[in-house]
Amino acid sequence: MDQAARKQQAAQAALEFIKPGVTLGVGTGSTVNFFIDELVRHRDDLAAIVASSRATEARLRARGLTVSELEDTGDLDLYVDGADEANKHFHLIKGGGGALTREKILAAASRKFVCIIDQSKWVATLGQFPLPVEVIPMARSWVARQFLKVRGQPVWRENFVTDNGNHILDVRNLQITNPVEFESRFNQVPGVVTVGLFANRPADVILMADDSGVKRLDRR
Ligand code: A5P
Repeated sequence: MDQAARKQQAAQAALEFIKPGVTLGVGTGSTVNFFIDELVRHRDDLAAIVASSRATEARLRARGLTVSELEDTGDLDLYVDGADEANKHFHLIKGGGGALTREKILAAASRKFVCIIDQSKWVATLGQFPLPVEVIPMARSWVARQFLKVRGQPVWRENFVTDNGNHILDVRNLQITNPVEFESRFNQVPGVVTVGLFANRPADVILMADDSGVKRLDRR
């Protein structure tokens, strides 16, 4: 089974969380795209859908689904999204697609966060995947220097502007042994909009697909 097939399996497994009347946040990325394609069959159960990016919004609308604003829905029942890395504490690195800030808002605003991944995303220590950081453009180099102090190697994602009009630094060479502390520390650096570390608000459920099927992991 190739990686795309595993992503599709994980996405399909998330459908069991769709209950009648659910208010749903939808993440961004290729795994979530499979979820959106399946979601159409459950449209009658959806009270409201909020998108984490313009790309997701466009895909939802293209399938005839109505997209609402978080401002109008209030808190959400469920958030479904992929990840770039996940560990056994359900901490995640996200933002490979550059949608990390809106993703983090929806994860925080949701009562349950279901993360859908294939097994290649599962790691012992976060940081092998470059950590995406959304920054205010005029602070980009200054923020980059703050990551150099912890031996990170920040790389500007050139020719990319986030949905919020900002830039992304991808910070390589990190070994994030304390994700909660690291997220809190670097979120406070002036000029950082958010770091793509989801540790203070981890996933609640991970659905991980490998060749033998989809494993469900629940955070205690
Ligand atoms: C988008 O900004 C990311 O957070 C995605 O959730 C993450 O990159 C996973 O993407 P794939 O599902 O495409 O692997």
